[in-house]
Amino acid sequence: MTDVTRRSFLATAAAGAAAGSLPAPTFAIRRLRAPVAVASGNGLQAVQIAVQRMGEGWRPVDAAVAGVSVVEDDPEDDSVGLGGLPNEEGVVELDACVMDGPSGLAGAVAALQNIKNPAQVALKVMRHTDHVLLVGEGALRFARAYGFVEQNLLTERSRKKWLEWRERRSAVDKWVAPDENGEHGREWFDQYKHKTGTIHLGAVAPNGDVGSCTTTSGLAFKIPGRVGDSPLIGCGNYCDNEVGTGGATGRGEACILINGGSFVVQQMALGKSPTDACLEAAKRVARTTKVRRLLDAKGRPAFQVQFYATDKNGRIGAAALYAGRYALCDENGPRHADFASLYDEPVK
Ligand code: GLY
Repeated sequence: MTDVTRRSFLATAAAGAAAGSLPAPTFAIRRLRAPVAVASGNGLQAVQIAVQRMGEGWRPVDAAVAGVSVVEDDPEDDSVGLGGLPNEEGVVELDACVMDGPSGLAGAVAALQNIKNPAQVALKVMRHTDHVLLVGEGALRFARAYGFVEQNLLTERSRKKWLEWRERRSAVDKWVAPDENGEHGREWFDQYKHKTGTIHLGAVAPNGDVGSCTTTSGLAFKIPGRVGDSPLIGCGNYCDNEVGTGGATGRGEACILINGGSFVVQQMALGKSPTDACLEAAKRVARTTKVRRLLDAKGRPAFQVQFYATDKNGRIGAAALYAGRYALCDENGPRHADFASLYDEPVK
């Protein structure tokens, strides 16, 4: 951002803040040298595809969905789409949402069974209904009507992992007795192997238009019907065409509780860089995580959450509670980079 642009942006931000409302930022419209995309670490190919598609003139939201579809189709990625780890009954339930900057519209599906590309179904919800979120059987019937083919999403690999989990189920199920939120909750959480994957992808076209998408099989071995942050607009995914994109992966419950995606975008609207906006979200998770079962011996969150952002000027950033890597693609091609993180080591 040039100094002049930055000054006018900050002045607008300050005026908005003084008025007690979010500012409408005024990023100067300048053409980017190339489209850009950011994603979770499993999205290296996805960001490359998204950037390629935007270079061909695709709208960012469509490019984002094209990118994540490759990960949804991959039976080896057990956090998304085909081969995603199932719920505690062995049924794969997928969540996804998309958001389109230029129109300000969004679409989402949650607890969708038997359809491997929920992000594509979310696009149809956005384009063919007046709604934002369809769930469960309704989402499945909607997908069927639009020609999506049903299939068993449980692969041999994910079925074996589920059976293995079930054999040890008494120690690791997802029910929480009320007293586990108290003093002795930590002992219980030590045995709770929190496993989430997910892909978020935020995309910016050369003209500054933005779009974003998040898709997941959610928390492994979850209680049937559990919905995480990924299909919730403003939580696992958000964008504002005057600002940029924000999204998250990791423990969805933590992201929901701080409205992570919209928080990141709001931080950028107030003048933070994409990386600093994501760091603010990570700090907010750390500050608001209070119950003992969710904390490690040092009082830090005992789980990982990662945040991703792009701004309208093509700047990319990402930050997490714990160390790790994310994927990005710009004029220099697809690559991984280290998260800015609150704590130096990877999550235990
Ligand atoms: N962030 C993915 C989930 O918690 O479902």
